[in-house]
Amino acid sequence: MESVTVDLGSRSYPILIGDGLIRDIGAHVAPLLKRPRTMIVTDRNVADHYLMPVGASLGAEGIGFSSFVLPTGEGTKSWDGLARLTEWLIGEGIERSDHVIALGGGVIGDLVGFACSIVKRGCGFIQVPTTLLAQVDSSVGGKTAINVAAGKNLIGAFHQPALVVIDPATLGTLPRRELGAGYAEVVKYGLIDDAAFFAWCEDHGAALLAGDSAARHKAIAHSVAAKARIVAADERETQDVRALLNLGHSFGHALEAETGYSNRLLHGEAVAAGMVLAHQFSAANGLCPPEDAARVRDHLASVELPHSLASAGVNSGGAALAAHMAHDKKVRGGKLPLILTRGIGRSFVTEDYGLDKVVAFLDGSPAA
Ligand code: NAD
Ligand code: GLY
Repeated sequence: MESVTVDLGSRSYPILIGDGLIRDIGAHVAPLLKRPRTMIVTDRNVADHYLMPVGASLGAEGIGFSSFVLPTGEGTKSWDGLARLTEWLIGEGIERSDHVIALGGGVIGDLVGFACSIVKRGCGFIQVPTTLLAQVDSSVGGKTAINVAAGKNLIGAFHQPALVVIDPATLGTLPRRELGAGYAEVVKYGLIDDAAFFAWCEDHGAALLAGDSAARHKAIAHSVAAKARIVAADERETQDVRALLNLGHSFGHALEAETGYSNRLLHGEAVAAGMVLAHQFSAANGLCPPEDAARVRDHLASVELPHSLASAGVNSGGAALAAHMAHDKKVRGGKLPLILTRGIGRSFVTEDYGLDKVVAFLDGSPAA
């Protein structure tokens, strides 16, 4: 088992990584509990695979639990999902010192984290991520939220978990498409500030996606260590450090909005295409060597991730896409900070490029 710490002073917490870890989860949860009781929240798919082993492990440590199984899908991260979950937690007699277990992907993690930030004015929670995206990104760092009619993740809070337990073996049941979407977030860490890790991804990405457990473990451990460093440096995204985690997200957000936040394009798939566009836009503006932009496109294409507007299934013009970007929640004083790059592993935040430049670029962006 490997352990990475998110260093936030008195709110620091460990991220444990190891194959088969959920079968021993009780032993890791027990020291956090003031009374031998917890509540597991999960979704239907994940419950079918992992609720029993997690429950058995808690039982073996003498920890009583109840469980709440929510419908699968982004729609659960909603006012309705939040109302149902918070009412259930209160009905279960939750106390402030309790820790709720979020067992699932980013949808469950974000919803449970937000519920736990407000129930009884805040209680504890533990992230047990079961998608690659959640294992390398959303379970770490304390961003929690639900979606509302005006947009995704617009209502939320920063609320850090007390523990993150990552069992890479759970990826064995994850559909290949979800795995690919999570892999885009792995590649992102290389592109932000770690060219050597991007090169590792070029060499090992295909094996990781095909099921190589050593490659999965290495990618997860490397990614969470990077995320832990970034979160410790800029927990609330006030210093342009955590903002780098949004590489590819401004372009990606426009693609997700244009495809209706639907199964047509998963979040990680939009980020993949968005990262290619961010590199190509940087190259078009003389910031990044064109060969670096080509490497990013070629690698993501090689693992069958979207790498262009067309492969993302979007044929809208630049103006329509830029209109979505203008509504991004990262807009500051009317300006949209973009994460651009001087090359692989050399990303930075800038407000120097107006949406007019983005529109012109998208209208002429490479077709494939
Ligand atoms: P998800 O939680 O919807 O999970 C994807 C699908 O995989 C679901 O159908 C789920 O039931 C299924 N699943 C999960 N684990 C499984 C397993 N081991 N085996 C079989 N099926 C499994 O999606 P996601 O991609 O994990 O998360 C997306 C969400 O994460 C979005 O709402 C996004 O906004 C959020 N997010 C949050 C952050 C953050 O920092 N908080 C960062 C990135 C994304
Ligand atoms: N996933 C972006 C962040 O945690 O800041």
